[in-house]
Amino acid sequence: SPIGGYTASSDTFVSETSELADIDWDNLGFAFHSTDYMYVMKCAQGGNFPKGELQSFGNIELSPSAGVLNYGQGLFEGLKAYRKEDGTIHLFRPEENALRMRLGAERMCMPSPTVKQFVEAVKATVLANKRWVPPPGKGSLYIRPLLMGSGAVLGLAPAPEYTFLIYVSPVGNYFQEGVAPINLIVEHELHRATPGGTGGVKTIGNYAAVLKAQSAAKAKGYSDVLYLDCVHKKYLEEVSLCNIFVVKDNVISTPAIKGTILPGVTRKSIIDVARSEGFQVEERQVAVDELLDADEVFCTGTAVVVSPVGSITYLGKKVSYGEGGFGVVSEKLYSVLTRLQMGLSEDKMDWTVE
Ligand code: PLP
Ligand code: COI
Repeated sequence: SPIGGYTASSDTFVSETSELADIDWDNLGFAFHSTDYMYVMKCAQGGNFPKGELQSFGNIELSPSAGVLNYGQGLFEGLKAYRKEDGTIHLFRPEENALRMRLGAERMCMPSPTVKQFVEAVKATVLANKRWVPPPGKGSLYIRPLLMGSGAVLGLAPAPEYTFLIYVSPVGNYFQEGVAPINLIVEHELHRATPGGTGGVKTIGNYAAVLKAQSAAKAKGYSDVLYLDCVHKKYLEEVSLCNIFVVKDNVISTPAIKGTILPGVTRKSIIDVARSEGFQVEERQVAVDELLDADEVFCTGTAVVVSPVGSITYLGKKVSYGEGGFGVVSEKLYSVLTRLQMGLSEDKMDWTVE
């Protein structure tokens, strides 16, 4: 039910209690915890989103004929809120997620909230669920905005109605390795994206498409899968859920964005942080062979933050990096980025939003 007629553009609604939720803050991992409220806003095809509202968190009702269920008309986003020592809560670059959702919506023939609506709705949802934002240093509140074709269709067409929804969950480290290095396997047969396809937007089908290779990799003990371009099967693209960087002789390289790779907010931020720390960063085609003599490899993403890669297996050959922790470069970048995100250093980039 709506919370007292609350809308995102009216004065801030903050959860009644200042106490933290009663959960084990030391063992969050990346598991779903239901929280108190979710944000819901609907609009018709061709229309604009009006004001949305906070509702008690719960199941939603959809027609079995909803566009999202039948034809995959759906997008999601992911961003985080951090609690600082002084009790204030900060978002990391929420406008970037809003813009990415707008680009994705254009690709998927969906209307989308304005950047202002998106950011205001995120703020409202976080404040309403304030007691679920982990204590400083224990993790963050993961924010999951969804955009879906919720109206009923039968013939293949854009749905007549759309729902924008935000739910949140407190999270800790993504990989069970914690911040220990992850082990990847290069996938040679299956691909996550094709030129002209939807790999560059955060549409839900991209994630169903990687489950098969990911499950097979996990069954063999790997943390996740690294994908190659589907035309040459020669150039690195990204991991199922994060971007990849390779370091050689202090030069940092990452695959260029060209429609098949998700333009990560963390990727973009790490490129800027690295350049401001004096590193040379190249966005280009990175051949899989370059993994053989790389000094360090690491992944970036909202969920995984900056994760060192300990080994990569390609066509049966395993290449290892480092000695069981971060490399010098990835440790530096991780430290600068996370201190900024957690409010432990001055935000010279003006990336955080209270
Ligand atoms: N690549 C894929 C396929 C992803 O799902 C994500 C996560 O959102 C990323 C990269 C990293 O993007 P970001 O840093 O914006 O979270
Ligand atoms: C994120 O990093 O926000 C993601 O979307 C990854 C998700 C698939 C777990």
